[in-house]
Amino acid sequence: MFPNIEERHPGLGEVFSGVFTSQVSPLSNLATPYPVVQCMLQMAGLRKKDVLYDLGSGDGRILITAVQQFGVKAVGVELNDSLVRWTISRVERLDFQDKIHILRTNFFTVDLREADVVTMYLGNEANHLLRPKFEKELRPGTRVVSHHFQVEDWEPLEVSTLLVPETGRNHTVYLYRMPQEARSSTVYRR
Ligand SMILES: C[S@@+](CC[C@H](N)C(=O)[O-])C[C@H]1O[C@@H](n2cnc3c(N)ncnc32)[C@H](O)[C@@H]1O
Repeated sequence: MFPNIEERHPGLGEVFSGVFTSQVSPLSNLATPYPVVQCMLQMAGLRKKDVLYDLGSGDGRILITAVQQFGVKAVGVELNDSLVRWTISRVERLDFQDKIHILRTNFFTVDLREADVVTMYLGNEANHLLRPKFEKELRPGTRVVSHHFQVEDWEPLEVSTLLVPETGRNHTVYLYRMPQEARSSTVYRR
C-alpha cells in the first residue's frame, strides 16, 4: 500500500497496510484511540509555548487535540494525500490555521529542530530509522512520545499502559526526553 515508503525504508509500511478504507474516517483502524492521545499529550507535559510535531499525522487527531486542550502550535507531517486533505478540512472548520501546519511530505526530510515534542505511532523499523535523525536534530529536553513502539536502545523516562474499551486491548505509551547535557548518544542509550 505504501510502495515508495517500503522501497526507501524497508519495514516502514508495517503498521499501515489496510488503512484508508472507510469513507467516514480514513484512519479508523490505525489511528491512536482518543484515550491514548490524551495519555500521550499528558505524558509529554505540554505547555502553551511548545511546538508539537506528529510524524505521520494521519487524520490529525493528535494535532487537533493538542491545540484544543493545551493551546500549543502543532505541525503534522503526512504523506497520504487523502489524509492531508481530511486534516486540512478539519483544521479549517475549527479555524486553527494559525495553530496547525500540515506538511505533505516524508517525515525523514523534515527538519525537526524547532520541535519541543514529537509524537508518533509508526513501527519498530520506522523508530529505528528515525533514531539517528532525532539524536542529530532534536534539542536537549525535547520529549518524544511513541504509541506502542519503543525507540530501540533508548531508556524511556515513563511508560504507561491503559486499557481502551473501544479496541478491547491494552495500549502502551513510551515517553523519552533528549538529554540536557551532551548530545552524545551514549547518554540515553541503555
Ligand atoms: C498508524 S498512522 C498514525 C496516525 C496518527 N499519528 C495517530 O497516531 O493517530 C501512521 C501514519 O504515518 C504516515 N506515514 C508513514 N510513513 C510516513 C513518512 N515516511 N512520512 C510521512 N508520513 C508517513 C501514514 O500515512 C499514516 O497516516
